[in-house]
Amino acid sequence: MNSAAQPHPAETLGKVLVLNGPNLNLLGQREPHLYGATTLADIDRALTERADRAGIVLETFQSNHEGALIERLHAARGEGFDFLIINPGGLTHSSVALRDAVLASDLSFIEVHLSNVHAREPFRQHSYFSDKAVGTITGLGAQGYLLALDYIVAALSDNLDPGKA
Ligand code: DQA
Repeated sequence: MNSAAQPHPAETLGKVLVLNGPNLNLLGQREPHLYGATTLADIDRALTERADRAGIVLETFQSNHEGALIERLHAARGEGFDFLIINPGGLTHSSVALRDAVLASDLSFIEVHLSNVHAREPFRQHSYFSDKAVGTITGLGAQGYLLALDYIVAALSDNLDPGKA
């Protein structure tokens, strides 16, 4: 293996998992007035570029199936992640099971929503995740994911206790 292409473990700042829930595979096509024109592939690419520059190993996973998201979180328990960025999509407002899986992962996490859920239907104003999140970013479109990653890079660089940055 070419060691120049692969960051040496000593140069790796940390490992981040990005989870996206149901219907987020349709970003760019789905209700663009709410969610924008950027596709999930565009978001994943931008996140990966920024992560590479910062020495973060980043993995992304999207599923339309609650069980698959839960299984991914169970597997993450043994994979050495430092942080989770999650947009649970509609499961934000309905899923005790996904909340439990996030808590079981023991990962500090940032909850991201492209749209401003607080300016929408009342049922979107409750999240099963926000009370346990380090922070939430809502309404800033695709930028929200990058801002979440910037926070994580800063927190890991300064070795700050998450939440005290
Ligand atoms: C969303 C907001 C949710 O209410 C909705 O069900 C989604 C996307 C967002 O990113 O704005 O699927 O999580």
